[in-house]
Amino acid sequence: MTSLNTTAELDCRYRPKWHYAAERNWLNDPNGLVYSNGVYHLFYQHNPQGSVWGNMSWGHATSADLLHWDEQPVAIPCDEQEAIFSGSAVVDIHNTSGFGAGGVPPLVAIYTSAYSPASPLAGRQAQSLAYSTDDGATWTKYAGNPVLDRASADFRDPKVFWYDGEAGGYWVMVAVEALNHEVVLYKSADLKSWEYLSTFGPANATDGVWECPDLFELPVDGDARNTRWVLVVNLSPGGIAGGSGGQYFIGTFDGVAFRSETTVTEGLQADGDRMADYGWLDWGRDYYAAVSFSNVPGGRRLMIGWMNNWQYAAATPSDGWRSAMSLVREVRLETRGGRAALVQEAVDPLEAAGTELFALGRQELADGVTWLPADASGDVLRIDAEFRPGAASRVGLVLRADREVGESAGESVGGPERTVLAYDSVSGELSLDRTASGNVGFHEAFSSVERVAVPLVDGRLRLRVFLDRCSVEVFAQNGLATITDQVFPAGSSTAVGLLAEGDGGTLVSLTVTG
Ligand code: FRU
Repeated sequence: MTSLNTTAELDCRYRPKWHYAAERNWLNDPNGLVYSNGVYHLFYQHNPQGSVWGNMSWGHATSADLLHWDEQPVAIPCDEQEAIFSGSAVVDIHNTSGFGAGGVPPLVAIYTSAYSPASPLAGRQAQSLAYSTDDGATWTKYAGNPVLDRASADFRDPKVFWYDGEAGGYWVMVAVEALNHEVVLYKSADLKSWEYLSTFGPANATDGVWECPDLFELPVDGDARNTRWVLVVNLSPGGIAGGSGGQYFIGTFDGVAFRSETTVTEGLQADGDRMADYGWLDWGRDYYAAVSFSNVPGGRRLMIGWMNNWQYAAATPSDGWRSAMSLVREVRLETRGGRAALVQEAVDPLEAAGTELFALGRQELADGVTWLPADASGDVLRIDAEFRPGAASRVGLVLRADREVGESAGESVGGPERTVLAYDSVSGELSLDRTASGNVGFHEAFSSVERVAVPLVDGRLRLRVFLDRCSVEVFAQNGLATITDQVFPAGSSTAVGLLAEGDGGTLVSLTVTG
């Protein structure tokens, strides 16, 4: 089974072509992201029995290229004592855990045991291990579980990595005390016994609960002698666009404590709303629980997120399967506008095999919507566009549009179906408006407009947009800001248009690839 071209017997209208979704049933957070022996493993929160959250188990998919995913049997099922909540996986190269056999390093999963009423630890969340000696095919729970128990009801989502410091090497775990808005750090020599290191937080966005942290080191501008550590903290609700979202901090880590250099201090903005000053992994509604792969060759830092939002995740249109993952993103630290920023680039489904469907060169933009020809339309497309907004008050793209309705009915009741990506020259903000994107009525919180301030570079705005059957992922200014949103348009809403309000805007270039 593969997620590419999978139509199966299910409704193919929304089933993504480029994004992983389970063949059937519910999926949430990515878990246990690890590369081993030529294979990327994507485990994930999964209900093997239904299309809403429950029976939390680790589902499993594998890929050689981060694009084509093959679904595997459920890896770690829940039982009557515990649900298997989110966590990570490592290749235990030196067999520190002793789980390896015959000189083959084991894969070790570190997950949260969410104990059910039938367990002696009922109500607690603690960290447990499972291991695989056949490269992820089958998993055995460690008999000594849990390995780290703080007698807490909200201690979860362990992300473990190997730290090499002056004082030697050891495993580091970052996890959350979710209600306290704390990331707690522990160290271990063998993954089995853990020693407390430090606590980070609360800091920056502190609504809702903190979940699914990650901590990794990246070179700044590719300079291995100048590195920073990135601490990722997902939170829900309280994300920048409403509901679930992911924030990040940039700073240092000395093997014991993370020190943030991007915590926004009180009083930076007079009105007290500092949300837009925090670091956000994504400015849309549907990029949550994002964490990174471990053991990736070449030092690449690859992340993937759950393309949904706890506000309405249980209500999104479903025909047996529900929720998809985002595209995989490579993240880097680059100096932009005088400071280090996390920039993101999607692993491109069309890198190897894309066909250019349509291209336009430099031209003045006419006031209104200029529809592209039928060749440039579709429900699964990559669109690369560069604009010079100039004197126009807005420029952008009309996506997944019902052109027939648009032309005949104008802005009549409800308006024509469309998703609008527009840059506003006055506010300096890029917005993604899904209020008329199709089926928005399944939950009151779904209809929304996402916004992010984006600096023009030499007066220009560069956009890379991935459209799939139920999603829009926008990478602006070479990955400086991203907006990820689900949309549920009619299958026939495939038109693409150029948008301008006022004269004086220029399209520098456009390509549509499919
Ligand atoms: C995040 C989360 C995690 C938890 C998992 C349960 O979406 O709430 O904190 O481990 O989902 O499915």
